[in-house]
Amino acid sequence: MRGQGIAPPPHPRFSIFVLSLTDMISRSLWLVAALAPALLGSGAGLTGAAPPEFRSALTNAPLDLALRPGDQLSEGLKQFYASGRNPYVGRAEALARGKELYEEICQACHMPDGSGRIGPSLIDDLYINPRANTDVGMFEILFGGAFGAMRSVYDRMSQDEMLKVLAYVRTLKK
Ligand code: HEC
Repeated sequence: MRGQGIAPPPHPRFSIFVLSLTDMISRSLWLVAALAPALLGSGAGLTGAAPPEFRSALTNAPLDLALRPGDQLSEGLKQFYASGRNPYVGRAEALARGKELYEEICQACHMPDGSGRIGPSLIDDLYINPRANTDVGMFEILFGGAFGAMRSVYDRMSQDEMLKVLAYVRTLKK
C-alpha cells in the first residue's frame, strides 16, 4: 500500500541544515557557560564590593601600579585603590596642588578652562573615551596614556598628584 514502509531519508541539504543548527545551539550554550563567571564577576565590581581593576586605555592590559622610586603610598592613594573613588574631589588643599599641575602640564593641550585644543574638551557633556566618565578611567588615561598626544604622565608626577590634578579637572566642568 502507498504511504507505508520506510520513510525516504531526508534531503541531504536539509540534514546538513539540522546538523549545523544543533551544532550552533550547543556552541552557544558553551559560550554562555564560559562567559557566565566573567559576567557575574563584573557585576560584583559594579556594586563596589571588589576593589577596582586598572587597565591600559590603549591596550586594555592590566596596569602595574608600581610607585616610582621615592614616591609614597599616601592615604588618599590607598583609599583610591580600594574604592575606585578619587578622595580629593572637593578638597581645597588638594585642588590647589591640582591646579598648579594642570597649569604646568595639561593646559597646553586642553586649554586653561578645559575647553580643549590639541586634546579634547574636558568640560563638555561627552568624553571621547567613555573611560573618562569614572575616576578609575581618568586615572588609567593619565597613568598609562591614551591615543595620540595624550602620553602617560607617570614620569612627570606621583600617583597621588595624578589624583589631585584629576580632582581639579572635575572643577572645570560647570
Ligand atoms: C600634548 C598634549 C596633551 C597633554 C599635555 C595632555 N593631554 Fe590629555 N589628551 C590629549 C589628547 C590628544 C587626548 C585624546 C586621547 C584619546 O582620545 O585617546 C587626551 C585625552 C584626555 C582625557 C580623556 C578625555 C576624553 O574626552 O576622552 C583626559 C581626562 C585627559 N586627556 C586629561 C589630561 C590631563 C589631566 C593632563 C595633564 C596632566 C593632560 N590630559 C595632558 C592631549 C594631551
